[in-house]
Amino acid sequence: MVLGDRQYYSRFGFVSASTQDLRCEYDVPDAAFMVLELNGLALQDCSGTVQYRSEFKVCESRSLNNNLNECFMTVSVHFLPDDVTIEAAVGEPFLEVANRAGVAIPVGCLMGSCHACEVELDDGRSICSCISSIPLGRSHLTVTLFSDPTW
Ligand code: FES
Repeated sequence: MVLGDRQYYSRFGFVSASTQDLRCEYDVPDAAFMVLELNGLALQDCSGTVQYRSEFKVCESRSLNNNLNECFMTVSVHFLPDDVTIEAAVGEPFLEVANRAGVAIPVGCLMGSCHACEVELDDGRSICSCISSIPLGRSHLTVTLFSDPTW
């Protein structure tokens, strides 16, 4: 089960959970609540409302009027040092978001090996943007590009 961008997750075979008679406990667009049946018969006798684990309730308490679209689906991404902010969908690849924002992140292998695309998130973690996507549960995210004149 995923709650995210339909365009992104459909690439991996996810389909609307409502086609399996599964509903999300939250008020989210039908197209955003998706399922991928890894075992061909795993969902055969499943139907009803899917309950999220308690870890997801943190996000629920942050949102106003229980509108999880604001909490789960859209993240305001601020790129530094360019000082560009853009809205992005949860699960959207970082490189695609940067590209839409007109921010050039240097790349090399595009496989997570060379670290040419490494950026720092506002929680202090460094990630390879070529293999990372916009995380769940954030409404704002600051991404700092490293500049290495020797690279
Ligand atoms: S481009 Fe090499 S790790 Fe991302």
